[in-house]
This record gives sequence, C-alpha cells and structure tokens, in this order.
Amino acid sequence: MEQPKIDIRRLMERINSLGQIGRVDGPNGEWGNARLALTDADRDGRDLVMAWMRGLGMDVVVDRIGNAVGTWEGSEPGLPPVMMGSHIDTVRTGGRFDGNLGVLAGLEVVEAMQVAGVRPRRSLQVAFFTDEEGARFPPDMLGSLVYVGGLGLEEALDARDASGARLGDELERIGYAGSMPCPAASFPAAFVELHIEQGPVLEDEHITIGAVTGVQGISWTEITVTGQSAHAGTTPMRLRRDPMLVAAQIVAEARATARRMGGTQVATVGRMEVFPDLVNVVPARVTFTVDLRNTDETRLQQAEQALFAFARSMAADEHCDLTLRSLARFEPVTFDAEMVDLVESTSRSLGYSVRRMPSGAGHDAQMLARVCPTAMIFVPSINGLSHNLAEDTAPADIEAGASVLLEVVIELANR
Ligand code: HGY
Ligand code: MN
Ligand code: MN
Repeated sequence: MEQPKIDIRRLMERINSLGQIGRVDGPNGEWGNARLALTDADRDGRDLVMAWMRGLGMDVVVDRIGNAVGTWEGSEPGLPPVMMGSHIDTVRTGGRFDGNLGVLAGLEVVEAMQVAGVRPRRSLQVAFFTDEEGARFPPDMLGSLVYVGGLGLEEALDARDASGARLGDELERIGYAGSMPCPAASFPAAFVELHIEQGPVLEDEHITIGAVTGVQGISWTEITVTGQSAHAGTTPMRLRRDPMLVAAQIVAEARATARRMGGTQVATVGRMEVFPDLVNVVPARVTFTVDLRNTDETRLQQAEQALFAFARSMAADEHCDLTLRSLARFEPVTFDAEMVDLVESTSRSLGYSVRRMPSGAGHDAQMLARVCPTAMIFVPSINGLSHNLAEDTAPADIEAGASVLLEVVIELANR
C-alpha cells in the first residue's frame, strides 16, 4: 500500500477534456466555456462527468433538481460520508476551472486513493450541483440551496430564464430530472470544495493556498424602469419620461455607493434590456440587474437601502415607474473554524504558503455550510481573472490545491 498522490497530468487531462464541451475561443488564444445551466452543453458536460464517476466504480444518483452525487464506498459505509464537489455549469464567458476544478479534483482524489490501494473508513462523495451560477436561472447556488432545504423544490422548478423557459421543463428536456428527494434525505459528515480564487489576492501576495474563512453576502435585484416611448426627433426634452436616463443615473450611483462605502463593498450592473431598443425611439422600458456584495450584513443592507432610495427618487423626478424584484439574497457565511484550521495546517504540513481569506464569489459550499462542517480551498487565478475566457491557473497550483484537498479528505474520512 503506497501513499496516495495527485496525478496532475491525469487531472489536467480531465479539466481540458471537460473544457472542450461548450468551448469558446477568444481573440488572443485564450479559451474557456459557455455551458449555461440546463443547456445542451451543460447536459453534455454532465454526461461526461457522470461517465467518469461510473468509470471509478462510483454509485451515481441524481436528485429532483438535477444535482448529481457519486459515492465511492469506504470500509465503514454506514458512517456519514465526506463530500467533495462544486459545479460544472458556467457563465457565458466562463473559464474551464470555475467550479469544474472542484468536481474533477474530487474525482482525482478518489482515483489517487484507488491507485494507491487505500480505502478510507468513510465513503467519499463527489457532487456537482445544478445551476450554481444562477446566470440563466437565478438565484445562484440554486441546486445546492434546494439540496440543503433552503429553497422549495417546486419554487425552484418554476424558475424562469429571460426567455421565459421554465427550469423544470429544461431539466426534463436534458434528461436530468432525477428521482432522489430534495432536500437530501441525509447530509455528509463534512463538505470540502476546491475552487479558484477568481480574484487577485493570492497572486498579488505570491501565496499558493487560500484557507477560506467564509463567503460574503450577496444581493441581486432586477430593476424595471417604465417611462413612455416617444419619437426621438419630435419629442421636446421637457415632455420626456425617459427610463434610460433613470437607469443610467442608477448605474452611476451603484458605483458611487460602492466607492462611498469602501471596505469590501462591490456593485455591478451586468445585464440590461431596453424596449423597444431602437435608435430613434425614446425607450418605453429598461430592465437591468444590480449585484451588491459585502462581507458585513449591516453594511450590505445600508448599500441596498441607499441605492434603492436613490432609484426611487430619480424615477419620480422623471415621472417614471420603478419596480424592484429580488433575484437572490444571501447573508454572509462563516465556515466552521476547525475546518478552516485543518485547511491551513494541512497546507503548511505540505509545505505550501497559505493565508486565510473571505470569498468574494458565491459557492455551493456556502449552502452546504448550513448542514455540515464545510471548508473551501482556494488556488490563485492568473491576473485575478474569472468569468472571462482568459481565466487560468498554473498546473503547479492546481496540483497544490488538489494535494491539500486529498490530505484534508483523508483526515476527515478516517475520523
Ligand atoms: O455569482 C457568483 O458569485 C458565483 O459565480 N455564482
Ligand atoms: Mn464557481
Ligand atoms: Mn462562477
């Protein structure tokens, strides 16, 4: 029996193979993925990862919201398992590491133990959760939220994308409306997610591993401003009720609010639809999204209140109607202290530089933290880029992160 070891060549092979599904090439040789949740590309990615799970002798089940969980039996299968995992759906300009790394490194951990002839006491599970990105069907982390009972199954199945397609129908269409119950009938003993940092901190500080302390609060709101469409040439400025003006004022104020609040406050307007969206028509309606985040819940609420009060006053000045619809709202999450310590101490024992840090991005781990001790391991993102085709992480850092995952999971699975 030898010491299990990560085979980085095998892991990079899987990352690049999955990356071919929904592959998108950029103008400067960078390439990433477009596998929005429950599209054909997502289905093809799911099929490939399920085949890899089965190839490792894992028993694979799919639940009613499409979450997939592979289980490799331990020597004492009656004990609650240790779960690894993340997501394999991507944004439209996604990289091949966001989410995918956590799932494929989980498979690599299982294979490394099998090759070494090492079987842990507890069974090991590898999961991918439906629609983590929330980019097509909000909220984000939808599948893991349903898995832990934070969102009702029927409500989730009725989620609609911008075209009006229903999540439950799309799940049926791609053949991933599974039969396992939601919320899950039982939860793992612990959950560990390896993920790229998606920001610049580890690279700036030349640190290899992030021991993630928690996830910041997330607030997604869809704002619809309704005015009056009119002729661009004949309508005097004093008679206009122009929702585009109001939208533009709110977009600028979102940035000003983040600057004024400072600290970890961030604000993003990423999606905007104009109707009728024509060069010579004062718009009738503008619909756009505001993503506000902060590590502190009180500060996040202050940002929301300030921005939405501003929005209402600008709409009133322009005699426009304003509606706000919440798409996602999650309070900050703090991970189990002992689990964070374990990531930190394991990294050090393997000789890697490590620092504690919060996550700016949302992750499935923040949902699993509601039901079991949870940890996240970060590895650096080159140029701090993610949700961008140029997303990239050095193989040596991938190997480091997967090695920390392996040792943390061996420790947890033999308790
Ligand atoms: O939005 C997020 O933070 C994650 O990428 N879903
Ligand atoms: Mn992710
Ligand atoms: Mn993402």
